[in-house]
Amino acid sequence: MNNELLTSIENQTLAHFRHFSSLFTNFPSTFVVSALQIAHFMQNKPNFRKAQMNVSRVSTVDYEKKTLGQRGKNKPNSNPIQTQSNPIKANKMPKQTQTNPKQTQSVVSLPNLFWPQSLSKFFLFFTFLCPGYNLTMQTWTIQKLLNWMTEHFTGKGIDSPRLSAELLLSHVLAMERIELYTRFDKPVAKDQLDRLHDLVNRAGRNEPICYLTGKTEFYSLQLELNPDCMIPRPETELLVERAIEFLRAPTVRNSPMRNMTRTEDVSNGARTGTQFVCDLCTGCGCIAVAIAKNFPDARIIATDISDAALNVAAQNIEKYQLKDRITLLCGDLFEPLVPRLDVDKFDLIVCNPPYVSAAEYEKLEKNVKDYEPKLALFAGDDGLDIYRRIIDKVDAFLKPDAALMLEIGYAQGPVIKELLEQAGAFAEIKIEKDFHDNDRIATARKMSS
Ligand SMILES: C[S@@+](CC[C@H](N)C(=O)[O-])C[C@H]1O[C@@H](n2cnc3c(N)ncnc32)[C@H](O)[C@@H]1O
Repeated sequence: MNNELLTSIENQTLAHFRHFSSLFTNFPSTFVVSALQIAHFMQNKPNFRKAQMNVSRVSTVDYEKKTLGQRGKNKPNSNPIQTQSNPIKANKMPKQTQTNPKQTQSVVSLPNLFWPQSLSKFFLFFTFLCPGYNLTMQTWTIQKLLNWMTEHFTGKGIDSPRLSAELLLSHVLAMERIELYTRFDKPVAKDQLDRLHDLVNRAGRNEPICYLTGKTEFYSLQLELNPDCMIPRPETELLVERAIEFLRAPTVRNSPMRNMTRTEDVSNGARTGTQFVCDLCTGCGCIAVAIAKNFPDARIIATDISDAALNVAAQNIEKYQLKDRITLLCGDLFEPLVPRLDVDKFDLIVCNPPYVSAAEYEKLEKNVKDYEPKLALFAGDDGLDIYRRIIDKVDAFLKPDAALMLEIGYAQGPVIKELLEQAGAFAEIKIEKDFHDNDRIATARKMSS
């Protein structure tokens, strides 16, 4: 009953303002500005709880549910379809922990009865997205912009709206995110507002934030990125983790205590000397760079069929000064390695290939389908094309005791295990789940000899 009453009052008030809105152009700008400020105050109640979520763990499951229609405005049905899917989170944000910003405004909020939410929303028309936003007497400070963008992104259904706002603003102001909170009252210059205006509009049309800022974070590394490369996902960090563990652990052959677990006998038979690693389908080079940074004895060949993606990988390799340890080769899977087969066999081959099926591809969210390269996502009718080709050829490129590690879709475990078993080259085959209990990593150890 109370809710009905409130809604009716809101609607009536809104109707009145709609009626009089045409007069606003004749009002002195100070009136409009004051009204805007009140409207801002009423809506500047950032949803701190939401903003505090650890977006580094924006999950595959979230993506898969979203992608397959559980959430979001394109919801095609209310039952999640349990098929294979790619762990793709379109607006995946870098690992960040958000602090709870202090509200500097001390004004006590008016009850909704007197200043209904819908009315304050109505004023948004006059704010930042309005073409004349910079003509009002509004001074856009960092705090105001953050609050406004958060509200705007929330309304647009953009993931992690507060973080998205912070990333765009810190990008435009060339500041660290943390600095935004120490300079809340700093006015933002007109040229910066203009740039932000454009980016906010593009983000509102689902363009991934990482592409707008041209960077992303992966395995605690700041990487360059552009739409020629798929955005690295947090799940892929698990593949890197396992790869590094494998390289640090002893080989079965070297181990004097073959029956003990790998962690127990690390000191006795650890791999020695240079370890040769191949990263197939490297994209922006995230896996290769993360392994090289964390395992100094690794020499890596990273391949991709996309020259454009390799250009980005080259920038990341240069940025982390890894040119002498990572070689980039362009071509179809193993093809660029064939001429070197006599010399180049690997201790470890890692790969996060495309693995989205035809049916899944059609259901991808707009921010994935419209912006990330199809070449990086789609892998034939059942999403297994690239796995079949890799598993068919990989044996020739692995040393005895070497390992193949593949990222896989959340329900692809059984079928990948079967493909690996059928290959007949592997002694140990393991499917590992990710932090959301979905199949994520397939590891296969080549037989000793
Ligand atoms: C899922 S993305 C992975 C990118 C990066 N490794 C990561 O983990 O974020 C797959 C990559 O495979 C590349 N690719 C697709 N088909 C390929 C093929 N036949 N041979 C080599 N690379 C291929 C794409 O260009 C894309 O960069």
